[in-house]
Amino acid sequence: MSAPGPPIGILAELTHRCPLQCPYCSNPLELLKVNRELDTQTWLRIFSQAADLGILQVHLSGGEPTLRQDLPVLVQALADRGVYTNLITAGIGVREGLFEKLRDAGLDHVQLSFQGARPETTDLIGNSRGAHVKKLSAAAQIRAAGLPLTINAPIHRKNIGEVQQFIDLALSLGAERLEVANVQYYGWALMNRQALMPERDDVMRVAALVEEAQERLRGVLAIDFVAPDYYAQYPKACMGGWARDAFMITPDGTTMPCHAAASIPHLSFASAAETPLAEIWGRSPAFEAYRGFEWMQEPCRSCARKEIDFGGCRCQAMKLAGDAAATDPACSLSAFHGRILALAAEDSVAQDASMTYRRIGVVEPA
Ligand code: SF4
Ligand code: FES
Repeated sequence: MSAPGPPIGILAELTHRCPLQCPYCSNPLELLKVNRELDTQTWLRIFSQAADLGILQVHLSGGEPTLRQDLPVLVQALADRGVYTNLITAGIGVREGLFEKLRDAGLDHVQLSFQGARPETTDLIGNSRGAHVKKLSAAAQIRAAGLPLTINAPIHRKNIGEVQQFIDLALSLGAERLEVANVQYYGWALMNRQALMPERDDVMRVAALVEEAQERLRGVLAIDFVAPDYYAQYPKACMGGWARDAFMITPDGTTMPCHAAASIPHLSFASAAETPLAEIWGRSPAFEAYRGFEWMQEPCRSCARKEIDFGGCRCQAMKLAGDAAATDPACSLSAFHGRILALAAEDSVAQDASMTYRRIGVVEPA
């Protein structure tokens, strides 16, 4: 296989610590404690290697990245190398004056999540009383610091009725962008699928509502819509294709093509604390495993869409088809597509399904 071009972006999970406990969190079920986090010097070395590699943007995420005291130093180091920085925050417990400090360090953009458009919903989903009010205050601080703001609205059955209010909220907060993103069912969300899966009719209604708002608010508020895999005809190009232009680093330095890659049992991942990023990106077996097209099976191998969606998500194929090289079952051409539709239909009407909140020590049911 020829050497890959340079990557575009990195999702850097600086910590798994978080004041919220969202039941759809994209972090792994096995959360890392603070004593496993990389220190400042190691992150600085990794970010310097990333800049050498030609990385254009780093998304600083968690957990809650503002819990890292060294966040301004990390932002500054990236900005000094001309790397675009985006902070992904829950906006809870942010230290006074931090957003100004981050702006001065060179931060380019902030994405602030809201678990609901109504206070009761935000507090329920994050399992934190008063969370909504704190987020409103964080949004005001972000805008006062002059930072561009995107509101992230992860959508599922418990808040799918609030999409219009999410749009109103984003407008009232002076956001430039709203991301209405249906939850992806991996990890925590997969465990909570019965409590979170929306009904198909509601998803269709929301898609139409967003389309109308996109048109009406053109030039005022950009609205992105991420459709739910389970109700789609074709899958998304997960991570833009495996090891194609982006990857992620966990709080302890483990470097993976996507956040759920550890669920593919035969892969092992190097740590950016020990192995140069260029080596991991260019020739590590885990990154090579599903890069390009050679690994594909039918129907993907001879499908005209393979350069659009790269066969969908390897982790979802692993989980639902038992083979990471299989066509993502979210695709209507997958032999397992009927199963995914049946699961979604069943889960979306599950009565009294309780939510397991994200926290250390939760074990996935067998
Ligand atoms: Fe995409 Fe494969 Fe489905 Fe074609 S068969 S649409 S490449 S997932
Ligand atoms: Fe791993 Fe989609 S989450 S490839």
